[in-house]
Amino acid sequence: MEQPDWKGSLGEAFDQALAYLEGLPARPVPARAGLAELRAALGGPLPDRPREPREVVAALAEAAEPGVVASGSGRYFGFVVGGATPAAMAADWLASAWDQNAGLYVLGPAASVVEEVAAGWLAELLGLPAGVSAGFVTGAQMANFTGLAIALQEQLRRAGWDLAADGLWGAPRVRVLAGQARHGTIDRALRFLGAGAVVAVDADDQGRMRPAALAAALAEGDGPAIVCAQAGGVNSGAFDPLAEIIPAAHAHGAWVHVDGAFGLWAAASPALRHLVAGVERADSWATDAHKWLNVPYDSGIVFVARPEAHLAAFDKSAAYFVPGREGERDPDAYTPEASRRARGFPVWAALRSLGRSGVAELVERCCGHARRFADALGAADGVEILNQVVLNQVLVRFPDPGGDGDGRTREVIRRVQAGGTLWLGGTTWHDLAAMRISVSNWSTTEADVDRSVAAILAAAGQSFTA
Ligand SMILES: Cc1ncc(COP(=O)(O)O)c(C=O)c1O
Repeated sequence: MEQPDWKGSLGEAFDQALAYLEGLPARPVPARAGLAELRAALGGPLPDRPREPREVVAALAEAAEPGVVASGSGRYFGFVVGGATPAAMAADWLASAWDQNAGLYVLGPAASVVEEVAAGWLAELLGLPAGVSAGFVTGAQMANFTGLAIALQEQLRRAGWDLAADGLWGAPRVRVLAGQARHGTIDRALRFLGAGAVVAVDADDQGRMRPAALAAALAEGDGPAIVCAQAGGVNSGAFDPLAEIIPAAHAHGAWVHVDGAFGLWAAASPALRHLVAGVERADSWATDAHKWLNVPYDSGIVFVARPEAHLAAFDKSAAYFVPGREGERDPDAYTPEASRRARGFPVWAALRSLGRSGVAELVERCCGHARRFADALGAADGVEILNQVVLNQVLVRFPDPGGDGDGRTREVIRRVQAGGTLWLGGTTWHDLAAMRISVSNWSTTEADVDRSVAAILAAAGQSFTA
């Protein structure tokens, strides 16, 4: 058989990718094409016959590229979205080329060992105890799900109930307590697990769980409990007071899971580490590499302080499996997935390329940019900053002399989105409409921030001088 045309298809993909990536700084951030155009460009009947790979890649790029959001741009501030550093992206390409199944050691020894090493580096960087176990999952949603699945099984085991054998019907109720400002993925994870609704604990004006309210809620029951704490709220960026919450929860026998999708990365910065003081005492942690580490999607990690509970939750067997021998780590023993992508390669490359100091600089730089946004916008007439900017999140409101601050704020967001210089979204904070700015991209510069501030103020009918 002739050698397949790898050069043709990969060469075309390389040229397209390079043009896209090098064009990011100048490109409008939103997608240019809408739904109808994309359906027309990508749709049509199922092709009848094969086509050349290079031709297919070129056709895909031509049809899809107008519908691509430049979320890797330094001026993308929506949701909490990181870009991809050059080393991480290239490693992700290699992960595709090698196409390892990171389920079992025997399927991909390098994929297994790279996770083992990256997990150790991450635990050190994030200030977690040595010896934590780790699972590489799709993102913080699945990291929360995984941590909570382990917590549920372990808390029931301690209460004398075998979840694997007897299921949840008739099991002791495990109460799950979390702050009012928790992320919605906690509730969704609990729904998947059949664990019922969260007991919502009162939070302060920044969204931080109140320790006294947690103590009171814990005291209302004496059965098994799980406390979900948050490091970095998706709106304000605020941190639950972990140094108080974790010991209080433990005194009650509760398992503490920390959702640190992006906030856990504060631990990598000597200047910001104080925000997560006490985090190392939790029982499980969820975070993302595709947010602040700027690794391509999809990349989340769950860490667990009790590896035996972690392994017990995902125990499985099949006659045809070839389990790892002494010391060989089967990655699927730590996640709810079996076959999957070798997510460890880009994480390893990101950490190797940035190093300890590079991650700290990246995190601090983004937080500096968030403060620059808050200072510049807050100094303008008729603009309010609603949160204490402790991390990379800024909430902005545009009060209206006529009293319709919600309407004006939403209109400014709409104009900013339509303008194309940057992209950001909106939210509701304490019943007020707010603009949300999240600075999570490694490539954002001060010039990007100033250009974006000018565009936001222009949308609000004001001018800006840096
Ligand atoms: C605090 C928090 N938890 C969980 C998530 C969910 O993360 P992912 O979308 O990576 O699954 C997010 C996403 O922004 C988040 O901010």
